[in-house]
Amino acid sequence: MLIFSVETSCDETAVAVTRNGREVLSSEVFSQADMHALYGGVVPEIASRNHVAVLCRLSELALNKAGITKKEIDAVAVSYAPGLIGALLVGVSFAKGLALSLGVPLIPVHHIRGHIAANYIAYPELTPPFLALIVSGGNTLIADVRGYTDIRVIGASRDDAAGECFDKVARVLGLPYPGGKPLDDLSQGGDDRLYKLPRAVIEDHPYDMSFSGLKTAVVNIVHNAAQKGEALDRASLAASFSCAVSEMLVPRTMAAARELGRDRIAVAGGVAANSRIRADFVRAAEAEGKTLFIPPLSLCGDNAAMIGCQGYYEYLDGRTAGMDLNAYATMDMDNVFI
Ligand code: KG4
Repeated sequence: MLIFSVETSCDETAVAVTRNGREVLSSEVFSQADMHALYGGVVPEIASRNHVAVLCRLSELALNKAGITKKEIDAVAVSYAPGLIGALLVGVSFAKGLALSLGVPLIPVHHIRGHIAANYIAYPELTPPFLALIVSGGNTLIADVRGYTDIRVIGASRDDAAGECFDKVARVLGLPYPGGKPLDDLSQGGDDRLYKLPRAVIEDHPYDMSFSGLKTAVVNIVHNAAQKGEALDRASLAASFSCAVSEMLVPRTMAAARELGRDRIAVAGGVAANSRIRADFVRAAEAEGKTLFIPPLSLCGDNAAMIGCQGYYEYLDGRTAGMDLNAYATMDMDNVFI
């Protein structure tokens, strides 16, 4: 089954052609990051306008690279929640038009479920059940993946997502947007214990997280140093921050896997590209004899191949939509609706 998929939930315009879920025939990602960098973060209206501008051309490229024509498409999958509402609406409208004109099914895909599916593409041997940590720019979640479409969220950030926190801390350190990668680079060689930073714990909710206090702590350190005219060890602050984030994510995920008896752990989302988090996960999984799955960097960030992959399993589960499909800025991953 050939699925054409569309992803426009934030500032990446992406389309892909996948066969039977896991085989990627083409995957095109147009990142708007440079346009938003000027403003220090994503400007929703600019994101929507750019999706409109590039979707058609990007789709032609994806079809050409896949070596297929429009007529060979069996279904159209689209990321319809959660995300920036204007940006999502562009992708949903485009996907509806394509599905209607070709007379093929339209498959709505929850964006975060798509991030989990990036692991199915990277690891053909991976099948549910397993435990997943999704760490992206907008979401931080621990989920029990019991089946391809049977997913239960067991913990989440109560405030900022980990990626958002990376971006804000990077900004206060004078790094460009999106700040996760530059901050990761800066932290190399820094002393990760030099700055004492908080690790929030939420009483009675061991798998929930909070990142806003950590963000504020870093902002205060930077501002206090500037006011007192003191030198800041930026590399060590970046390393101490990355260490704090990792120590909030990795032990929680391992504990959840232990409690649920899962011996396989999949990590997904843009922040899964972080070198400290990856290294800590590799060490923890080895120590506990768990099998770890982290997709290559190209599949960690937003892309449409992961939407096509999850779309295949949603389709097999009978989840298709009519032309009245809407986009939603928020939606729980374990309580999806059309
Ligand atoms: O999954 P993604 O591409 O978009 C969303 O769906 O949100 O994640 C983007 C996030 C950004 O916050 C970016 O700064 C962060 O992933 N990121 C990183 C790294 N590379 C990207 N954060 C930490 N370390 C990295 N190496």
